[in-house]
Amino acid sequence: AIDIKNLRGDSGVITLDPGFKNTGSCESAITFLDGEKGILRYRGYSIEELAEKADFLEVVFLLIFGELPNKDELSKFKDDIKAQSEVNLDMKKVIKGFPSTAHPMGMLSSLTSALIAFNPKSVNVDSEEDMYKAIVKILAKFPTLAAWTLRRRNDQPLENRDNNLGYVESFLKMMFQKPGEEYKLNEKLVAALDRLLILHADHEQNCSTSTVRIVGSSQAGLFASISAGVSALWGPLHGGANQAVIEMLEEIKADGGDTSKFIAKAKDKEDPFRLMGFGHRVYKNFDPRAKIIKKAADEVLAELGVEDPILDIAKSLEKAALEDEYFVERKLYPNVDFYSGIIYRAMGIPTEMFTVMFAVGRLPGWIAQWREMRLGKEPIGRPRQVYIGEGLRGFKEIDNR
Ligand code: ACO
Repeated sequence: AIDIKNLRGDSGVITLDPGFKNTGSCESAITFLDGEKGILRYRGYSIEELAEKADFLEVVFLLIFGELPNKDELSKFKDDIKAQSEVNLDMKKVIKGFPSTAHPMGMLSSLTSALIAFNPKSVNVDSEEDMYKAIVKILAKFPTLAAWTLRRRNDQPLENRDNNLGYVESFLKMMFQKPGEEYKLNEKLVAALDRLLILHADHEQNCSTSTVRIVGSSQAGLFASISAGVSALWGPLHGGANQAVIEMLEEIKADGGDTSKFIAKAKDKEDPFRLMGFGHRVYKNFDPRAKIIKKAADEVLAELGVEDPILDIAKSLEKAALEDEYFVERKLYPNVDFYSGIIYRAMGIPTEMFTVMFAVGRLPGWIAQWREMRLGKEPIGRPRQVYIGEGLRGFKEIDNR
């Protein structure tokens, strides 16, 4: 609690906690995180067990509705999502308005917002039934929009989801099917992506999730809240770190592969460079997701027969950092983003799409948190400030300034 100050302002006592390092914004029954011990659980189930035994849509249901679905519940949930999978054709006009060089996260955030215009009823969702409809709609259409951002970049035709395929399979097909060619699914790739999405599905009150809750608290609607969450995730200190990690590893490779120079740069307080994919606001121990992803990176690359020198650089960078006093003292460990990009790369996903992949994984967490906030009738989020500016001043005419 070192950073908290209690200050007496004109309107009573205000707690000043920049970055909300010690401030709880809500009560939540969704995700349990013990950063000291490196524990992460969704609705009481350990992340390790879910990553091994569940599939992504089961975890989506669990996060949003609180329990693992039985067979009937899961099958109805899947059918409801399929029934809403078609994206309005006019949305294609919206995406075609973007230059193909636009960053996919910028496109995804805008497309998610644009979806509101085509689904106006999804804004006012006061009943649980209306909420369910909005939730299913965004779950159904979001992967299509995400895949379209890649297709726009590649100047390829935009297709709707293939409802004969599962959620993750159809997402892969929408991203990678080349015009006029049959797309062959690789089951190993599907399983690896499914697991990655599970590992990203929720992480309690992080920057993007808090954004979703705070936007939703004004009753702006689910799609608007998710669109804001996408924008918050984009930054390199949050979800954008997965892109930044690969760019950093590429830079180390181009520089000859010597990690010590980059460790020294990261330690230099005059240099803004940080070791991307390292450190976490809450984890002061190994991020349990990073442990699973590191192992998966080895497996996926072996299965796909991909040899990537970047994986070796990542491992030696991790080793060097974990042996360095600076990182040890500050309890800086690899986070979820350190190895995920290496897997995405092996799958043939371009670097600029990595944060979009994260967003597809995080969508259920955002939805679950938004639903919990709305059902809990939480008040509008409105932090206070401590004013440190000028006192009252007389207006200065322009000639006197
Ligand atoms: N490289 C070098 N030094 C670091 C790093 C890093 N990656 N991360 C933290 N530090 C240092 C800080 O400089 C600070 O040092 P000081 O005490 O000498 O001033 C100390 O460790 C504590 O760091 P803070 O910035 O105060 O920690 P905070 O909780 O505010 O930030 C964050 C957490 C943003 C994740 C930070 O560790 C970081 O920038 N990491 C790199 C970006 C990254 O990987 N982000 C993804 C996070 S996971 C996710 O969002 C999905």
